[in-house]
Amino acid sequence: MRKIILYIATSLDSFIARTDGSIDFLDALAPPSNTEDYGYNTLLGQIDSTLMGRKTYDSIMAMDMPFPYPDKKNYVFSRTQQQPSLDFVRWINDDVVNFVKNLKQQEGKDIWLIGGGTINTLLLNAQLIDEIQLALVPIFLGEGIPLFEKPLHESTFAINKIKHCHTGLIMLQLLPRQLST
Ligand SMILES: NC(=O)c1ccc[n+]([C@@H]2O[C@H](COP(=O)([O-])OP(=O)(O)OC[C@H]3O[C@@H](n4cnc5c(N)ncnc54)[C@H](OP(=O)(O)O)[C@@H]3O)[C@@H](O)[C@H]2O)c1
Repeated sequence: MRKIILYIATSLDSFIARTDGSIDFLDALAPPSNTEDYGYNTLLGQIDSTLMGRKTYDSIMAMDMPFPYPDKKNYVFSRTQQQPSLDFVRWINDDVVNFVKNLKQQEGKDIWLIGGGTINTLLLNAQLIDEIQLALVPIFLGEGIPLFEKPLHESTFAINKIKHCHTGLIMLQLLPRQLST
């Protein structure tokens, strides 16, 4: 079955953006380069779809660049908005968990869960995340938009890989671990 991969960058205190939505701390500390892309191009080759909440979509659209994944199927979750679908963007008002369960059953490559925290939480609580690739940025923000929101159910992951990047980031690959009872 195709995997849901959460690939995301977080501060050490588990914030994925500042309170105002800014992700400037990512750019300043660790711009992707030819020598270190944090597994990004491997991920892009592995997936054919992305999942994101409406706020993450808005933050991508607010960037001064064309939409970055026009060759993927991009599913945007919203309870309140139903914008016209573009060729590569589909607005989803259905129940997030049911939608993703169905999507996983369909033929296709893996699926990148882009975020943000609200959608991450729904899918982790439903045990639908098959892999987490976490870029740990060595900064404490103090406040911001959390990687996961409360209430978050307890779940255990094994650290499968750790890479200390020369830019100062740590990349963690986490896989769900079933605890024997
Ligand atoms: N550091 C990183 O790598 C990274 C990665 C991704 C995102 N981000 C940042 O994260 C921030 C956004 O994260 P966020 O947690 O605030 O928001 P989010 O998860 O991106 O989106 C939340 C929105 O999803 C929709 N939604 C929530 N629950 C739903 C449900 N049950 N069914 C259908 N739709 C539902 C709602 O849209 P409506 O309000 O339209 O109903 C809600 O406002 C942005 O600033 C972005 O830049 C950072």
